Amino acid sequence: MKREKWGSKLGAVLAVAGSAIGLGNFLRFPVQAVRNGGGAFLIPYLITLVLMGLPLMWIEWTLGRFGGHHGHGSAPGIFQTIRAESNLVRFLSLLGVFGPVVIFIYYTYVESWLLGYSVFSLLGSYQHCPDQQTMSSFLRAYQGLEKNQFFSSVGPAYFFFLITFFLNILVVYRGVTRGIEKLCLWAVPLLFLLAVAIVARTLTLKPVVHQEWTPLAGLGFLWNPDFSSLSDARVWLAAAGQIFFTLSVGIGVILTYASYLSRDSDIIVSGMTAAASNELAEVILGGSIAIPAAFVFFGPAGIQAIARQGSFDLGFVTMPLVLKTIPLGQLFGFLWFSLLFLAGLTSSISLAQPALAFLQDELGLSRRQAVVIFALGTFALCHFAVILLGRGVVDELDFWGGTFSLVVFATTEAILFAWVMGIDKAWTEMHAGSSIKLLGVYRFVMRYITPLFLLAILLAWTWQQAIPVFLLRGTSPENVPYLICTRFLLLLLLFGLYLMAQRVWSKKGKETA
Ligand code: PFF
Repeated sequence: MKREKWGSKLGAVLAVAGSAIGLGNFLRFPVQAVRNGGGAFLIPYLITLVLMGLPLMWIEWTLGRFGGHHGHGSAPGIFQTIRAESNLVRFLSLLGVFGPVVIFIYYTYVESWLLGYSVFSLLGSYQHCPDQQTMSSFLRAYQGLEKNQFFSSVGPAYFFFLITFFLNILVVYRGVTRGIEKLCLWAVPLLFLLAVAIVARTLTLKPVVHQEWTPLAGLGFLWNPDFSSLSDARVWLAAAGQIFFTLSVGIGVILTYASYLSRDSDIIVSGMTAAASNELAEVILGGSIAIPAAFVFFGPAGIQAIARQGSFDLGFVTMPLVLKTIPLGQLFGFLWFSLLFLAGLTSSISLAQPALAFLQDELGLSRRQAVVIFALGTFALCHFAVILLGRGVVDELDFWGGTFSLVVFATTEAILFAWVMGIDKAWTEMHAGSSIKLLGVYRFVMRYITPLFLLAILLAWTWQQAIPVFLLRGTSPENVPYLICTRFLLLLLLFGLYLMAQRVWSKKGKETA
């Protein structure tokens, strides 16, 4: 079966940038920066970007294009083409399909809240919420976690979830060029325009509570460096986690997107352009909206408390409170949530693609069959996120998809690139079609530093964070049965993938024997 190809170079870059630019840029990043040393956070952030983020971006573009050329668009097939055929690697390759599916399950649900909130902004539904507490109740009732005067069931949230889910499926059903690329070609530029407009509005806000609480002072607050944070290993882990998440690397998504590149595409420049657009959207634009805006209303102590509550609170409680107060607030609220919704949509479709590529390339299904299977499966699984949100299921899914699979898979692919494909072949492959030559020092980095850096992160993360979560330490006892049930389901999903891949592997084994 003939595989699809991106229609243009720009299309491929914007699709990757669309995957990278998401909620992570506008909500997760500012919260991480405030929590982990402000301006000083940029030091581990930039170091991990250069030593791990960018190399992983190039690794995935290279392995993906190589695999695509041999007819494979997802990790289980791609790893096979570079002769990484040990049982362990085969098993690990499944994480490159499993991880994205698991993230997709909760990411689309969160994305649907943004659609809901953009409509609520226009209608002025939360206009009468005077403070954080009432706005929190609005959010909790919307999520179905309590009943109050705002919502009496999860129905409205479910309605917006159905629309969002359907939209995602529609885009991937139309395919790589006619669906994903076509959407990203207009959505990503529009997203930048919206972000710039909102930054301009934020930075011209007048102080309302306190003369000194200006948006510029808010920027100063965000970037004020606390260098003592650098000696804390957790800050480094947080920086690495943010780089993975924001660039969408290390999970198999870019690998799949790259498999639709043509042989003569310029991997180095395109990968760098996509990463640079993401960083622009994150550090410059993402850093200049939520925190400075919230600073004007809540001041330094207030922001610390907000950051402790996490990114959801910043997006769905603090920002609506701020936006509803300013002139033309309903409109700006609408623009803010539409921006986030678009950013979310161009990310979630990328999460669907590895599983679709797996079903099409490895099992020989048509796109229509693959999309139907994917849609039915994930639709059922999404209900866990919708119904059991209050039981900590979303955090659990985030742990297995967005952290566990990611750290393990990223380490695997970095080692495969440099040591199984071999740095000489990998370097040549990466430069094929390239208009520039990467500094020689990067060859050393990709051979030794990136894999070692990832191994160190894997170890530090296992020790500091994974073991307590594995053992469900600190979980409230009434949630434990739900979380165990979720784990069981995820295991089933992984086992299902294993069975499907097994058929392919044994067939391939016979062919080459
Ligand atoms: N990069 C996206 C964000 O910043 O929100 C999230 C994401 C999308 C992570 C796709 C991983 C992924 F494969």
